[in-house]
Amino acid sequence: MRIEVAKLRPSLPGVLRGVLFTFLLLSSAAVLYATGLNARTAKTLAESSLESTALALSTSTESALRAGWNQAEGEIRDILSDRVVAYALIAGKDGTVLFHSNAELVGTKLQDAGLADWLRSGKTYGRRVSLGTGLPAYEFNYLLHGPGGKIEILRLVLHTTQADRIISDARKMWWTVGAVLLLLWAVGVVLERVLTRHLRLQAEVDRRERLALIGQMTATLAHEIRNALGSIKGYTQWVDEKVEEADPRKNALAIVLQGTERIESLVNDLLLFSREESYSVEPVDPTPLFKETVAEAASGWAGEVEMETVPGTRAMADPDKLRRILLNGVRNAVQAMGERGVLKITARPEGLRLVIRIEDTGPGIPAVELPRLFTPFHTTKTDGTGLGLAYSKKVTEGMKGVIGLSNREEGGAVLAIHLPIAGEG
Ligand SMILES: Nc1ncnc2c1ncn2[C@@H]1O[C@H](COP(=O)(O)OP(=O)(O)OP(=O)(O)O)[C@@H](O)[C@H]1O
Ligand SMILES: [Mg+2]
Repeated sequence: MRIEVAKLRPSLPGVLRGVLFTFLLLSSAAVLYATGLNARTAKTLAESSLESTALALSTSTESALRAGWNQAEGEIRDILSDRVVAYALIAGKDGTVLFHSNAELVGTKLQDAGLADWLRSGKTYGRRVSLGTGLPAYEFNYLLHGPGGKIEILRLVLHTTQADRIISDARKMWWTVGAVLLLLWAVGVVLERVLTRHLRLQAEVDRRERLALIGQMTATLAHEIRNALGSIKGYTQWVDEKVEEADPRKNALAIVLQGTERIESLVNDLLLFSREESYSVEPVDPTPLFKETVAEAASGWAGEVEMETVPGTRAMADPDKLRRILLNGVRNAVQAMGERGVLKITARPEGLRLVIRIEDTGPGIPAVELPRLFTPFHTTKTDGTGLGLAYSKKVTEGMKGVIGLSNREEGGAVLAIHLPIAGEG
């Protein structure tokens, strides 16, 4: 009997996680792009403000110079004493300094290697330089057209503090943006964790509610079936007693009785699985239980049986429930092995647990079966109910234990039941 539970729910946490991280990625990319753009604009703005200041000072100097050098010197000195100017000089085409903010340097010669080339190109240009003090500055070179078309060189060196402030303010934005993005991602990750946990818990609650409902329905149905079955079985037995041994109908009655017994055992399993359990937990010695269950579930089996327990170690369990778990485990192992094999049952203390293992040398469990072994009604046997392991899990957990069925490395399967160990005495 195999019941496949349809997957009604798409992977909701997966979809949400995708949406959340796509949102975070897109918003981070947008913020980074905007900040980058802002930084680039700030740099361009700073450079053009330096250039336009230099150009304004240069044209003022040029128009003052048109009045003739002697009349203009005072005015030029005034223009070039602006606080943004670090120093300024005017030189002849041969590089001789005719005017300098520092009067001591008048008469010296410019040492620029590319001076002649620049004069030939005749183009105004500005560049970033460092002052002797190490401070950054902006050097602007301009060709002055003096009276009579005489060409002279005007060099303005400007302080860049104001302009650089714009750039450094834009750079500071990176830190702010970095911190905000970090916070955004941290919130995103926390949100994802909380959401996933919430959805997992919700799914677990839904599952439990569904199982509880199925349990109630099953119990009601099973009671009704058992009552009806009682009458069928009773009357069949009554008729059977009345029918002569030689009567051919005797055979048919035996088949009906067999059928009712099979249904009865199925209904009993169902009732056992769906009922609300109560536990009377006590220290249980596994040795006699092992012997009992092997005698019941593996009697007449031709394989080898090995048992191993540590004297004096006991598990805290409900003996009746543990007996049912072991019975199903041994039955499963023997059924898996067929006629021959080695059945090994051990109980070993491991920390605060007593671990009971039922090992077999059967074919083991195919990978596809592993996730649904403990699902109620899952069976690969033609006469199985598929409730053995589901019941075992329910009551093991009810006794504060853990149960697992897995493949052994050397072949075959192992059912491991971890139960709390009983204290000394
Ligand atoms: N030792 C084992 N080796 C291989 N497969 C196993 C073993 N034990 C369990 N299984 C697989 O797990 C399935 C479920 O086992 P479970 O005991 O729950 O039900 P069942 O034995 O099929 O029926 P039921 O126990 O209700 O009569 C089995 O049908 C079988 O396919
Ligand atoms: Mg079974």
